[in-house]
Amino acid sequence: MDIKFIKREELQEKPDQKKLGFGKYFADYMFTMDYDEGIGWHDATIRPYGPIEMNPATVVLHYAQETFEGLKAYRRADGQIQLFRPEMNARRMINSNERLCMATIPEDMFIEAVNALVKAEEDWVPSEPETSLYIRPFAFACESSLGVHKSKAYKFVIILSPVGAYYAEGLAPVKIMVEDEYVRAVQGGTGFTKCGGNYAGSIIGQVKAEKYGCSQVLWLDGRERKYVEEVGAMNIMFKIDGEIYTAPIEGTVLPGVTRDSIIHILRDWGYKVNETHLSVDDLMQAGRDGRLEEVYGTGTAAVISPVGALVYKGEEITINNFQIGELTQKLYDYLTGIQWGKVEDKYGWTRLV
Ligand code: COI
Repeated sequence: MDIKFIKREELQEKPDQKKLGFGKYFADYMFTMDYDEGIGWHDATIRPYGPIEMNPATVVLHYAQETFEGLKAYRRADGQIQLFRPEMNARRMINSNERLCMATIPEDMFIEAVNALVKAEEDWVPSEPETSLYIRPFAFACESSLGVHKSKAYKFVIILSPVGAYYAEGLAPVKIMVEDEYVRAVQGGTGFTKCGGNYAGSIIGQVKAEKYGCSQVLWLDGRERKYVEEVGAMNIMFKIDGEIYTAPIEGTVLPGVTRDSIIHILRDWGYKVNETHLSVDDLMQAGRDGRLEEVYGTGTAAVISPVGALVYKGEEITINNFQIGELTQKLYDYLTGIQWGKVEDKYGWTRLV
């Protein structure tokens, strides 16, 4: 792929790496590429980060034909930069785009674009502990038309954001509310995709959760509101009586890259991982009985996030005295050790940029 480069007049001052938060700062350059039916993808360009001008009738503004991804570039102790399983993001985006009838970005093109942009912006990969460069590829329908049809034109964009922890709490446990009124996904819907619409529909749960002093919402299945599925910005796992439980990937749950990696690691460590439908009633009962030993979320942004309490129908269950669990900490250290190049990558998951 030929990538054109448009130089920026003035570079920004870099933010303080100790106060990055999540998604607040953006690197100097972004990648853009256009798609037109009959032509295919064209005009791959690395250009100054800035506004994208749109006709008010652009399809995405009306019918939300949009998908996105999230991955990170990590600064190793030796100064080199590496990505973590980027091919998983490329393939997931293909699946998302197919479900939304959007033009797909071939895996090699996706990886080449990510690599080229991160290489061009390598100074933006932070080196402070617990920091990384969050990579946000996204694609949207950009034909101008109010008819509800598959768009004939798309744009693929990648932006970069130096980040610290996703939650203000850092690695301290968060409190999560189980949502019993609204649902996030149903069988046959778009739950398994990373499309903006899934998140738009979930904000109401997030608003409710915050009212109850919770950081995020835990969604139940869309049919019976009985089985636990995933959290607003991450997948979730429960350790009950020494075994791990997490929702299966059957169409409604996002197939998280961190989720998949953690399941691999856990099975290697000899844990029984049950990818199964766990009812919220059984979960709460395990909490009441003291059998719910640890709960943690997994995600690229969230990494491994301990959950210290669950709130469901007004009842609050505390997990492990609101302390990070031993296994949660071990998983966090091991996974981030691989990602930051401190632990041997025996799975071959990292890719030097
Ligand atoms: C990610 O973990 O990369 C995500 O996309 C979650 C996001 C909604 C913050």
